[in-house]
Amino acid sequence: MNFSDASQVRRRDPSGMLDLIRRLPDMCAEAWRLPVEPPLPAVRPTNIVALGMGGSGIGGDLLRAVLYDDASVPVVAVKDYRAPGFLGPTSLVFACSYSGNTEETLAAYDQAAGRGATCVVVTSGGDLLRAARDRGHPAVVVPQGVPPRAALAYLFIPMLAVLGRAGVIRSFETDVREAVAILKEIARRLSPDTASSPARRLAEQLQGRIPVIYSSSPFLEPAAQRWKDQFNENAKTFAVWNTFPELNHNETVGWGMDETLARTIHAIILRDRAEPTRLAQRVSITKDLAFQRAAGVDEIKSEGEGKLARLLSPIMVGDMTSWYLALLRGVDPTPVPVIEELKKRLAEMEAV
Ligand code: PA5
Repeated sequence: MNFSDASQVRRRDPSGMLDLIRRLPDMCAEAWRLPVEPPLPAVRPTNIVALGMGGSGIGGDLLRAVLYDDASVPVVAVKDYRAPGFLGPTSLVFACSYSGNTEETLAAYDQAAGRGATCVVVTSGGDLLRAARDRGHPAVVVPQGVPPRAALAYLFIPMLAVLGRAGVIRSFETDVREAVAILKEIARRLSPDTASSPARRLAEQLQGRIPVIYSSSPFLEPAAQRWKDQFNENAKTFAVWNTFPELNHNETVGWGMDETLARTIHAIILRDRAEPTRLAQRVSITKDLAFQRAAGVDEIKSEGEGKLARLLSPIMVGDMTSWYLALLRGVDPTPVPVIEELKKRLAEMEAV
């Protein structure tokens, strides 16, 4: 695969996933400005719940990570048909589905509406938008026509914007601006036009191996999860993720696996530049005790000062790495036929 041959790249990536990945910073800036109609009045929720699956659910995980020490109320991401028991009239609920037709999200949203929660919908259309309009719920309508996972910014940033405007959290405008600048720089650095892209080098090493992505802190958990998801959906390969410090209490022991298994694993550790020293010490000891048996170990460091830049910077590197791996494997990064077939078969079956 010759990455500097634009026509070969186009043949292997006919739907242009590379361009979508590189547009993440612009999408963040655009998503920050998307209107919510009708506007959400000032609210004082006792909890914040983000409903969503897959590419539309990771936004809820990112929201939870960003607000963990910023919000004065619990923030919970729900990936289920069922709304949690605590959800009620004082909850603020975001129902997020790019297509607007995901059955788990629609079912949990119905329950949230039935319990009198304040609901905001984030979608490009579908049944979700229709239901929101019928109920008079505020909606953020995001641009159509991209795979849900490429719409990450549209499905995450509007929640932060809406919460800030409604006075629930501080404004993240400065954080968004910093993240946009840093993501643009990373996109440039990792591009196939650049002589030696670190993402390409990592993807080359990952061929024939199972990527195991570890976040050095719970804050970076959703970034590790996103790396796994993008390896699954773009590169059509298996991947696993976990986080420090929890993995030190179980998974570290599992590295006693057979040598032949250990030699199929490539560990990728996402390091937060603001990670506490104690977590850095854990990573260092664990590399020594366990990861020495891996086929390879790489570290990716977050960039920037603010929480958005520190979360989204490793995500950008992971998205690019998954794209390189797809092309090296000779698979088209865009279609996800297994997900589509599963949804089709479910639609043909009667719900019980
Ligand atoms: O990446 C994907 O295509 C999936 O993970 C979808 O995001 C998931 O199936 C949910 O669909 P939607 O994002 O339309 O709600």
